[in-house]
Amino acid sequence: MSLVLDPAAQDLLFREARTANTFTDEPVTDEQVQAIYDLVKYGPTAFNQTPLRITLVRSPEARERLVKHMAEGNQAKTAAAPLVAILSADNEFHEELPALFPAFPQAKDLFFSERPAREGAAALNAALQAAYFIVGVRAAGLAAGPMTGLDFEGVRKEFLDDDHTPLMVVNIGRPGPDAWYPRSPRLAYDDVVTTV
Ligand SMILES: Cc1cc2nc3c(=O)[nH]c(=O)nc-3n(C[C@H](O)[C@H](O)[C@H](O)COP(=O)(O)O)c2cc1C
Repeated sequence: MSLVLDPAAQDLLFREARTANTFTDEPVTDEQVQAIYDLVKYGPTAFNQTPLRITLVRSPEARERLVKHMAEGNQAKTAAAPLVAILSADNEFHEELPALFPAFPQAKDLFFSERPAREGAAALNAALQAAYFIVGVRAAGLAAGPMTGLDFEGVRKEFLDDDHTPLMVVNIGRPGPDAWYPRSPRLAYDDVVTTV
């Protein structure tokens, strides 16, 4: 009773949402991805730095190049998903920072002039945005299959550059037959929350 979000939306986003391992062949359109992005772009990041970058792997040739960098157990589903996205962190996000955080444009030079500081911030904030993206996929009535079982350096060299660090690959589509493993347990509130 403490949640104000409609119970059906709670189910769609969390309780009934699952990580899909198989998909139907119904396509996922650019319009759907745009709607997802235009929703989740409002999720918060430090200094509004928004370092997440999304590479949609659409062509069969690009899909083949990606599959070879996936762990063996992830290859078949990555080959078959209607859409696959590579999520990466832009380590040069500071170039956009004065425009993205006009309230404090000095942040670019004060905090992010050194590459290691940018890499740390980009890793954390792009991971937050990756989580928003997964929830956004669910908000579109689709299922996501995030994966970190892959050769990160291989994916970086194949699709990105030195300024971008891959975070994960996400299969996206409508769940197919036998799409999920049995639901695993979650930690209980008392196992996780302490009050000081
Ligand atoms: C960042 C991340 C990486 C994951 N990597 C893989 C992976 O490489 N292969 C895989 O089969 N599942 C992977 N998973 C799926 C998780 O095992 C799954 O989301 C989790 O067990 C919850 O499943 P449920 O949503 O069906 O409850 C990954 C999930 C996340 C969020």
